[in-house]
Amino acid sequence: YALDQRSTLALRARAAAFISATRTEDLLRAVLWSQDSGMPLLPLGEGSNIVFAGDVDAALLQVDIRGRKLLRKREGCAELRIGAGENWHQLVAWTLEQGYYGLENLALIPGTVGAAPIQNIGAYGVELSRFLRRVHAVDLESGAPMVLDAAQCQLGYRDSVFKHRLRDKVAIHAVELALPLSPDPQLRYPALGQYLEQQGIGTPTPVEVFEAVVAIRSARLPDPAREPNAGSFFKNPVVSRAHAEALRADHPELPVFPAAGDSCKLAAAWLIERCGWKGHREHGVGVHPGHALVLVNYGGNDGAVLLALAEAIRESVAERFGVDLEIEPRIYGGDR
Ligand code: FAD
Ligand code: EPU
Repeated sequence: YALDQRSTLALRARAAAFISATRTEDLLRAVLWSQDSGMPLLPLGEGSNIVFAGDVDAALLQVDIRGRKLLRKREGCAELRIGAGENWHQLVAWTLEQGYYGLENLALIPGTVGAAPIQNIGAYGVELSRFLRRVHAVDLESGAPMVLDAAQCQLGYRDSVFKHRLRDKVAIHAVELALPLSPDPQLRYPALGQYLEQQGIGTPTPVEVFEAVVAIRSARLPDPAREPNAGSFFKNPVVSRAHAEALRADHPELPVFPAAGDSCKLAAAWLIERCGWKGHREHGVGVHPGHALVLVNYGGNDGAVLLALAEAIRESVAERFGVDLEIEPRIYGGDR
């Protein structure tokens, strides 16, 4: 089964099989098939955070289960249950129409609702963890249903239990969120605050925040339909405050953000740009000229070549700044 159109990086690769599940029963049937055939299942949403490094020795299981349901209103929040196959951005727009707030900073993040907990999607000062109540999943080996509450999901910066103990082990089919019924705009992210200020908007409504995020993202990030990419290719590195201060002493312009405990988050894009990679191209892949954190498939279509470029970037950032970059999207296929 050809995967070229199944990821936003549009890399050339094949999978052993492709199964689309539109109902929970389809997931259970897929598990039975997998038990019989011995072929592992790999869940897939819209492929916006995946690198196919080569052919995948698994059956891709696209979770296309839809549905948006208001469960109840309680303690000033709307509690919702959303099918994993719903598109994230469409969900954000819909919640605002309903008067359920909070997701506006997360507008225009590509992908599905079911994939959102995997890396605890985040942008413009807000992460999914703020609103996630529960995840409904199926164990891919036994078919057993599972319900995880927010604590069990162990959400962190671009991190969750689904990247560790439950890595590639479950298919999420629904997600429960609790969204406030009164607006509470989060404007701390510098680019967002500055944009609203420039627009002369002092106290924005959630819809104005949504529109601002859409405008900022559209101006900064390349559209995968025209320039195939997976968003940020590396996580922003988290280092000790002492390390950040030492780097700042040499490079006063280095963007540093406070992180949990006594640590700081650095802008990987800045480090990569300083190493001279921005706009670099080789073998049909490259670093976007508008954003140094975004690697683009310019027609090379080869995941191994893209990963070789990523490795060269990592090495140069480590050498120049003593900072380790970690790849953000999930890598499948080849010898992974
Ligand atoms: P996929 O890429 O299909 O899958 C990603 C991972 O989740 C895989 O490991 C897959 O096996 C697993 N998975 C998918 N669905 C399920 C399921 N139902 N059950 C179990 N496992 C599943 N991310 C951010 O956090 N913030 C951003 O601002 C952001 N901006 C982006 C901008 C661009 C232009 C692009 C291309 C990507 C960006 N991303 C961002 C990354 C991406 O949008 C998110 O990671 C998104 O959640 C991926 O959703 P998906 O449906 O495409 O998942
Ligand atoms: N910068 C550079 N050079 C560049 C681009 C940016 O020096 O080429 C600097 C900017 O000047 C800014 C800083 O880097 O000071 C941060 O840039 P930006 O606001 O664009 O955000 P980011 O840190 O690069 C992160 C997320 C994005 C998310 C934005 C907004 C990660 C890995 N990435 O990017 O998420 O949309 O913040 O919150 O945390 C994704 O995960 O795919 C993604 C796009």
